[in-house]
Amino acid sequence: MLSERIGFIGLGIMGQKMARNLLRHQPINVYNRTKDRAAMLIQGGATWYDSPSTLAQASQIIFIMVTDDQALREVVLGDEGVLAGIQPGTLVVDHSTVSPQVTQELAERVRQRGGSWADAPVTGGDIGADQATLTIMVGADARDFQRVEPYLQQMGKRILHVGAVGQGQTLKLVSNMVSALNLMAAAEGLQFGLHQGLDLKDMETVMSFGSAQSYELSKILDRLKRDDFTPGFSVANRLKDLRLAIEMAQQNQFSADLGRCALPLYQKHAETGHMDLDESSYVKRWDD
Ligand SMILES: NC(=O)c1ccc[n+]([C@@H]2O[C@H](COP(=O)([O-])OP(=O)(O)OC[C@H]3O[C@@H](n4cnc5c(N)ncnc54)[C@H](OP(=O)(O)O)[C@@H]3O)[C@@H](O)[C@H]2O)c1
Repeated sequence: MLSERIGFIGLGIMGQKMARNLLRHQPINVYNRTKDRAAMLIQGGATWYDSPSTLAQASQIIFIMVTDDQALREVVLGDEGVLAGIQPGTLVVDHSTVSPQVTQELAERVRQRGGSWADAPVTGGDIGADQATLTIMVGADARDFQRVEPYLQQMGKRILHVGAVGQGQTLKLVSNMVSALNLMAAAEGLQFGLHQGLDLKDMETVMSFGSAQSYELSKILDRLKRDDFTPGFSVANRLKDLRLAIEMAQQNQFSADLGRCALPLYQKHAETGHMDLDESSYVKRWDD
């Protein structure tokens, strides 16, 4: 058993499953804004804290998995945030998908208090979180990476040190822009075929075993067949990540041409009542 005192903040779709996988190997402290979502973990032996600051006082490595820049700022910088309780030597490991700038800013604030930061966003979805098969891309100092790697192994299958603080988020945003484009291309293609009178099953057979194949194509076909668009990865989160990628491109003078075309289309889908559905509900855009 590893010996550091660990804490987990943010027990949503992903965080609950990741924290449960950590709990299988050692004790864990937990906090979530909405306490109900911690119930299963508490029943399983996790120790509940009423705020990020009290959790921080009791933890040497703090894992965070919240929605976006704003949520991350609140749990770190808020009156009862991590910074209010952090002890020197603490490592904060952020799994949320957020901007590289906010990452740098918060990492600096943590450094000023004698701690350190690793950005460690994940890919592999809610199934990867459940089955501990996530890919985790880490931006951190080499020593911090070595320190946290054994814990990341408990939640994922491929653990990569991709550079200094911020580089984990950079890779995640690039990767998510590609999957957003795959998703939108697959949805448009399927709807185009249906519009032309093709059979969905025939399209599935041809496209799933040909060069049109992608993870996102499989996901859309599965969701369409089950007519189930409850979120694994929500439209809100997909839109957030696409926006962050385009902002990063603009700030760094990279012409992300396809990404820029895709953003307003996905934004329109989100704003027409689909925000809380699964990302794959984009395939319904042509039905509305
Ligand atoms: N779902 C996926 O397939 C997937 C895959 C890879 C990466 N991600 C990334 O993982 C992160 C979490 O995604 P998720 O799917 O787990 O989302 P989720 O189910 O909506 O969970 C979001 C978590 O953030 C917390 N939160 C939100 N705003 C907050 C605030 N202002 N203060 C404190 N806590 C706040 C929520 O607390 P409450 O419970 O109180 O609302 C909840 O614990 C996102 O950055 C997402 O982009 C998701």
